[in-house]
Amino acid sequence: MLSPLIVALDYSTLDDAMACARLLDPAKVRVKVGKQLFTNEGPKVLDALHALGFDVFLDLKFHDIPNTVAGAVGAAVDLGVWMVNVHAVGGRRMMEAAAEAVERSNNHQTQLIAVTVLTSMDSGDLSELGINEQPADYVARLASIAQSAGLDGVVCSAQEARSLRAQCGDKFTLVTPGIRLPDDDAGDQRRVVTPWDAVAGGSNYLVVGRSITAAINPTDVIDSIISRLTRA
Ligand code: C5P
Repeated sequence: MLSPLIVALDYSTLDDAMACARLLDPAKVRVKVGKQLFTNEGPKVLDALHALGFDVFLDLKFHDIPNTVAGAVGAAVDLGVWMVNVHAVGGRRMMEAAAEAVERSNNHQTQLIAVTVLTSMDSGDLSELGINEQPADYVARLASIAQSAGLDGVVCSAQEARSLRAQCGDKFTLVTPGIRLPDDDAGDQRRVVTPWDAVAGGSNYLVVGRSITAAINPTDVIDSIISRLTRA
């Protein structure tokens, strides 16, 4: 059965991404393709991952005028991706145009998600931009606009998942990066949460990169996470 895990294929080349993907089981995990891999290799990465049977989250975080974002989202949907995202700070009209692009397409199954505040940003970064709200309040505001604009969910920190779940209800999708196992190095992530705490807090999908991809045996790590999530 598919788990909540989305493995971030943060590689430069198709060969490296596929070497990792071939170790993974599309019946257990989904995969995420981000800006680095997609910029280098383009849509053929998606074709190769789809051919292996994976659901693919195309994490390009679109942010532009409504017409341009609608076109990009429509193109992503036509490529058959399972999930695609935009930046909520692009505003209501941009998100509505993106949601309409999914509706217009032949693949209504694609989930459209908004990034709220990047987990790499803190209150100092926001106030330098003239945003004096606390990050949690700003995230809640952006999530509310995303939901009323017709998006399926948001990317957020697992630490915000519990309050967003209460605010947005059970049907709103919460996707959370910044996941680490108890013995892992946090690396460049500032606020990390374990997979079980993230799910207990209301996350639907856990984006996990290096904890899995840098492991000596990625499948062992996946199986141990899934088995603990199943027991919880
Ligand atoms: O290796 P690690 O588990 O930190 O990878 C996290 C993945 O989630 C990366 O692909 C990163 O770009 C992505 N991400 C994130 N924080 C966000 C949005 C996406 O870490 N707010």
